[in-house]
Order: sequence, then C-alpha cells, then structure tokens
Amino acid sequence: SNSHELRLEKSNILLLGPTGSGKTLLAQTIAQCLDVPFAICDCTTLTQAGYVGEDIESVIAKLLQDANYSVEKAQAGIVFLDEVDKIGAVPGIHQLRDVGGEGVQQGMLKMLEGTIVNVPEKNSPRKLRGETVQVDTTNILFVASGAYNGLDRLISRRKNEKYLGFGVPAKEGAGRRAATQADVANQSGLSTAEEDNLEKDAMLAHVEARDLIEFGMIPEFVGRFPVIVPFHSLNKELLVRILTEPKNALVHQYQILFSMDKVELSFSSEALRAIAAQAMERKTGARGLRAIMETLLLDPMFEIPGSDILSVHISEEVVMGRSSPVFIRGRAVEEDQAPLEMRVKAK
Ligand SMILES: Nc1ncnc2c1ncn2[C@@H]1O[C@H](COP(=O)(O)OP(=O)(O)OP(=O)(O)O)[C@@H](O)[C@H]1O
Ligand SMILES: [Mg+2]
Repeated sequence: SNSHELRLEKSNILLLGPTGSGKTLLAQTIAQCLDVPFAICDCTTLTQAGYVGEDIESVIAKLLQDANYSVEKAQAGIVFLDEVDKIGAVPGIHQLRDVGGEGVQQGMLKMLEGTIVNVPEKNSPRKLRGETVQVDTTNILFVASGAYNGLDRLISRRKNEKYLGFGVPAKEGAGRRAATQADVANQSGLSTAEEDNLEKDAMLAHVEARDLIEFGMIPEFVGRFPVIVPFHSLNKELLVRILTEPKNALVHQYQILFSMDKVELSFSSEALRAIAAQAMERKTGARGLRAIMETLLLDPMFEIPGSDILSVHISEEVVMGRSSPVFIRGRAVEEDQAPLEMRVKAK
C-alpha cells in the first residue's frame, strides 16, 4: 500500500470551561494512565525568550526529562499547556511589547506546528547554553486549557442574542479585560447561580475560533488548535457526587482525619446537597467544596482532641448555619486532657 506516503498530522486540543470544572484534574489523570511522556506547563510563568521568566522551550525540556532523556520517546509525548487564557493579549499595551501575553503566543507558534527545539542537555547548567539536544515537535500533541472567564459574553454578543436575566448592557471594548469586567458586572444579577451556569454553558457550546481571537488570542495561535472542547460547569448533583464518590473524596478525607481521634463523622444527604448548593453560589466549581467543609468542621476539629466525643453528625441545619453540629459523647476523659472549657467549669 502507499499508506506510508501519507503523513498523519496531529490535531492539538484546546479545553475551555469554568474554573474548578476539572480541566487540570483531567490532564493529571490522563498523565497517570497513559504510558507516554507527559509534561504540564503553567503558562502564567512564561515570558518571551530573553526576558526574566520561564522560556517557552522549557516545556520541551520538561517533556524530555519525563521521557528519561530519550529524545525518541519525548517526540511522541503530550504537552499540557495549562492556564493558556492568561497569555491572552491585553489590549492597550501593544506598543510596549506584551512579553507575557502576545509575545508568548508568538513564540509558541512554531513549536505547536512542528519545529526543532534545542533543549539543554541533562547535566549542563541552564544558563550557559552549552550542549543541547534537538527535539522535533512535529508529533508532540499539545493540549491547552484555560478558564476563559467571560468568553460566554463575547459569544452571546456575537450571536446577537439578548443575555437573559441581566440588566447590564454589553460593555464596549474587546479582549480579556473587558470580558472579565462584563463577567463581574453580571454577578450582581438577579438570577441564581444554577440558571447562570446553564446559560453560560449554552453559550460556551457555540464557541468558535473568532471568539477566542476577540478574547485576545492571536489568530495564528488559535488556528493551531483545530479541536476546541468546551467543558460545562458542575451542577449540584455532580458536586454531591464529587463530595462522596471518588477514592479521595472530601467526605472520606475528613472521615479519616476524624477517625485518627477515633471519632465517627457522618453527613445527612440533605446536608451534602446543601454544601453543594453553597459551592454553586461561590462560583469556584469543585474548589469551593473544600472551603465550605473547612468552615463547617472547624469547631468540631477544635473540640475533639482530648474530649469524650464519639461521633459528629452534620445535618442540613448545621450547613445552613441554623444549629451547631451534633456531638455524641460518652467516653470517659482524663482530667488533664479535657478541653480548656471543661476544666474551667470543673473548678
Ligand atoms: N469532575 C470532577 N470530578 C472530581 N473532582 C473534581 C472535578 N472537577 C473538579 N474537581 C476537584 O476540584 C479541584 C479543582 O479542579 P481543577 O484543578 O481541575 O480545575 P480547573 O478546571 O483546572 O480550574 P482552573 O481553570 O481554575 O484551573 C480538583 O483538584 C478536584 O479535586
Ligand atoms: Mg486548572
């Protein structure tokens, strides 16, 4: 056959979606499962070559390291570019050379498409530019991910639909700043977080390359990502499942923490739903869950050491702040181990 005359080209992937919806987690999980070299690069620290900061080429160096310095393996690896929306150009500082934004995007163009990158050798000091190895990036798959906060606004404006539920008129001006400002203005809207998310998700589903360009990505950069995947935000049901189902779910984590003091921790299912509802209001995705759990369990965690508490139950009322956690006490305590409060009472 003549199949070897036909070159199969890679299709780089761009993931976008609300914060805390699992983009980075997805990348980390894939990295664990796959048997190919994998490097995650945080785009927020990148600067154009020659400036203080991390060079774009350091990404390939990381990949080579993960491949145990086998160039051949590294050339078939995957590079994950995280927080790629943070290298969107900021309008207005064009003239001053935007070394962290547009400059980085420009610097990446050749690498995304396929070029030879010179990577410092394993043992050579980084700044001396001594021995280098050449890595061909043609077959390296690039997966970019970013929250693109406010992108839904740009899409809705393009589609010329009225953004339901908000009295704030579309702001003039384009780009990252304007999109974020519009998004902040939205948050004072009257709708609930859940409706808000549904509306945003519906918009994001229609994302096209030109919306990303309006956001501040340069056309050449966007054009090198033929696959654009919008993530949807997490709803209440998903948040409850995230609380309880994964192997290292938050509820299990705290239960183990409590079990170190031989205390049982339990939640009613209504309580879990209430926690999920509060996390939705915070608009930080699954990240909000931990913050809520911390405040909720702060008092019990303070009370437990050295006390006679056997178990703690969290009900919906507790999550809503209408009552305090139910402690079941019983075990006898030695005098000097009792919490301060009890010792004071005893006197
Ligand atoms: N779908 C999910 N299933 C289980 N856990 C999740 C999920 N999404 C998020 N989480 C939890 O939330 C945390 C934050 O998610 P992650 O870092 O993936 O967010 P992100 O989408 O990369 O957000 P950002 O755009 O702010 O970087 C994860 O460490 C994980 O514990
Ligand atoms: Mg992330």
